Amino acid sequence: MTDIKKIGIIGGSGALGSALAKRFMKESFEVTIGSRSPEKVISKISESDKNLDVQNLKIQGIAQTASESDLIFLTVPFAAHQKTVHEIKHHVHGKIVVDTTVPLVPPKVARVQLPDSGCVARKTQEMLGNDVQVVSALHNVAATALAKSETPDGEVMVFGNNKEARETVIQLISKISLKGWHCGSIDNAVVAESLTPVLIFMNKFYSFKGSGIKIVDENMNE
Ligand SMILES: NC(=O)c1ccc[n+]([C@@H]2O[C@H](COP(=O)([O-])OP(=O)(O)OC[C@H]3O[C@@H](n4cnc5c(N)ncnc54)[C@H](OP(=O)(O)O)[C@@H]3O)[C@@H](O)[C@H]2O)c1
Repeated sequence: MTDIKKIGIIGGSGALGSALAKRFMKESFEVTIGSRSPEKVISKISESDKNLDVQNLKIQGIAQTASESDLIFLTVPFAAHQKTVHEIKHHVHGKIVVDTTVPLVPPKVARVQLPDSGCVARKTQEMLGNDVQVVSALHNVAATALAKSETPDGEVMVFGNNKEARETVIQLISKISLKGWHCGSIDNAVVAESLTPVLIFMNKFYSFKGSGIKIVDENMNE
């Protein structure tokens, strides 16, 4: 497993990214939030949690965040996905990029609407090239659940063409109390990308606060 100290979170001012940033900071990782307007983010993050020790937090532009981090989480809306991947492309050689993008197209976010290219994470891998290990994860964990201090109930399907890179991400997210599972190649990520609109539908239908998934197996009960 690759040793990861510096974590970059592109879109880290948003719901998912900021929840991840806070969890990693609490575990003493050096976190950099990559933002289009870094100056606005500092007050937003510190205002939202007065007890947060921001010693381990940097806020920078997107390219700089990508170039200075050991591993990069991509937590931007689908509408900004391609532009942002272009922006980090020349700064992530040899690194792991964790793509969390769900292809949601408002206003119908409770409906599966895959792009013409199919799987978003496969597109990310194609755009970044094979010397970047794209790992796709976290689509089915609600940011609201991550933002709380408790251990989230939901689990994480982890996809990617490189087993070691997947393992690195599984170990890394275990540090923030998330259970990850190897789920195969990057093409398989289309399953998790498609599942999120279903969970959003269920949240609305059943008034759930943030539904998620859990993997079960007969052997787990023995
Ligand atoms: N929210 C969840 O529960 C959840 C769960 C699983 C997966 N996801 C996925 O994670 C990604 C981020 O979701 P989110 O809910 O955290 O989104 P969000 O709250 O809207 O935040 C996304 C961040 O992305 C940045 N950004 C860059 N380009 C943008 C653009 N054109 N329009 C708007 N924001 C832009 C913004 O940061 P700056 O302004 O600082 O640049 C913004 O704060 C999405 O792909 C989503 O499908 C979300």
